Amino acid sequence: MAVDAITVPVSVEGQRYDIFIQPGLLHEIGPVVASLTEATKAAIVTDSNVGPTYAQPLVRSLKSAGIDAIVATIPAGEDHKNLAALSNIYDTVLSHRIERSTPILALGGGVVGDMAGFVAATVLRGVPFIQVPTTLLAMVDASVGGKTGINHATGKNLIGAFHQPIGVLIDPTTLKTLPARELRGGLAECIKHDIIRDPDGFARLESEIGDALDRDIGYLSRLVAHNVATKAKVVEADPFEKGERAHLNFGHTFGHAIETVSHYDYSHGECVALGMVAASRLAVDLGMLDEASRRRIVAVIGKAGLPVGGMRLDPRAVADTMNFDKKVRSGRIRFILPDRIGHVVIRDDVSAEAVLAAIKSLES
Ligand SMILES: NC(=O)c1ccc[n+]([C@@H]2O[C@H](COP(=O)([O-])OP(=O)(O)OC[C@H]3O[C@@H](n4cnc5c(N)ncnc54)[C@H](O)[C@@H]3O)[C@@H](O)[C@H]2O)c1
Ligand SMILES: [Zn+2]
Repeated sequence: MAVDAITVPVSVEGQRYDIFIQPGLLHEIGPVVASLTEATKAAIVTDSNVGPTYAQPLVRSLKSAGIDAIVATIPAGEDHKNLAALSNIYDTVLSHRIERSTPILALGGGVVGDMAGFVAATVLRGVPFIQVPTTLLAMVDASVGGKTGINHATGKNLIGAFHQPIGVLIDPTTLKTLPARELRGGLAECIKHDIIRDPDGFARLESEIGDALDRDIGYLSRLVAHNVATKAKVVEADPFEKGERAHLNFGHTFGHAIETVSHYDYSHGECVALGMVAASRLAVDLGMLDEASRRRIVAVIGKAGLPVGGMRLDPRAVADTMNFDKKVRSGRIRFILPDRIGHVVIRDDVSAEAVLAAIKSLES
C-alpha cells in the first residue's frame, strides 16, 4: 500500500498540516486519525450521496483505532449549503456530547467540506477539523486555504470563517464513483493551476488528461498531489490574499459572470473552462499571448470534455454582470491573463470593447 502513498506538507498562516494521498486510505484511516489526535470520539459530516457508500468503512476503521464516531448526513447539493442544514449538523454533533478535542471529519465534496469546516470553526468556539474529500474539486482546491462557510439568500459563501484543518486524508479511489461531470469540473481547476504556474505540468496534461477521464487511480493520485502542491505554494506565498493568490482567479472573472447569467445551468467547472477560453482570447487580442499557446490551452480544455465555445448566453448580459461585480467592489475589473503557458499577470486596464469581444468569441 505504501508504494502509492504521497504526503504534501502545507503551511498556511503559521499552521502546518499534511495532505495524505493514498488509494484505499478510507479503509485504513483509523490509525492515521489517531496519529493526529488523542480524541476517542469523532463526528463525521457527510451528504446523502456519499454517506451510503463511504461512511461505514470510515466509521469501522475509526472504531478499530479506538475512536467512536457519529455521522451527521445532510442532503446533497449546493442548495443545502444553508443555515437549515447547518443547524441540523449542530444538533447531531452536540447531542454526541463532543468536547474541545473532538475532531470533525468532512467526508464529501466541497459543500460538505465548507459546512463541516464552519461547524468545526464555531462549535464550542472551535474544534479540530479533518478533511476527507471525495470530489476532485474538493481534493485539489478546497483542501488548501482554510476557507469554510455557507451560502445566504443574498449570495454564495457570505457567512464563514477561516479554519485550517489538522490533516487532509485523500483516498483517490473514491473518484471511481464520482459523476463524470463533477470529475470534469475538478479537471478545470487542475488545468487552471498549470496555466498559471507550471508549463511542464501543462505539457503532461496535454498527453495524459485522458487517463483522468479513464479514472486511472495511479494517475489521479499523482494529479491530486501535483495540484495540491501548486495551490499550497500560491496560498503560502500570499496567505492574506494581498497579491498573487488572485492568480487562482484565472478563468473565474468571466466564469462567475457566465455562472450567474446561465442561472447555474453551466456547472462551476464548465464556467471556469469558458472563462479560461475567454481570458486566453483576451490575452491574444491584447498582444500578450501567442496564438499557438492559446490553441494549446483550448485543446486541453476540450480534451477534458469541458466546453470551449457554443455559448448561448447574451454576451452583453455577461459583460454587464462583470461590471456590476466591479461596482460592488468599487474598483476596476482585475483580469488574470496568461502571457505564456505557466505564467499570468494581473491587468486592470482592459477596455470594455476588448472584454465584450472576448465574451462574444465564446459564441462560436
Ligand atoms: N473552501 C474552499 O476553498 C473552496 C474552494 C472551491 C470550492 N469550494 C466550494 O465547494 C463547493 C463545490 O464542491 P464540489 O464540486 O465538490 O461539489 P459537491 O460537494 O456538491 O459535490 C458534487 C456532487 O458529487 C457528489 N459526490 C461527492 N463525492 C462523490 C463520490 N466520490 N462519488 C459519488 N458522488 C460524489 C456530491 O454528493 C454532490 O452531489 C462549492 O460550494 C464551493 O463554494 C470551496
Ligand atoms: Zn473554481
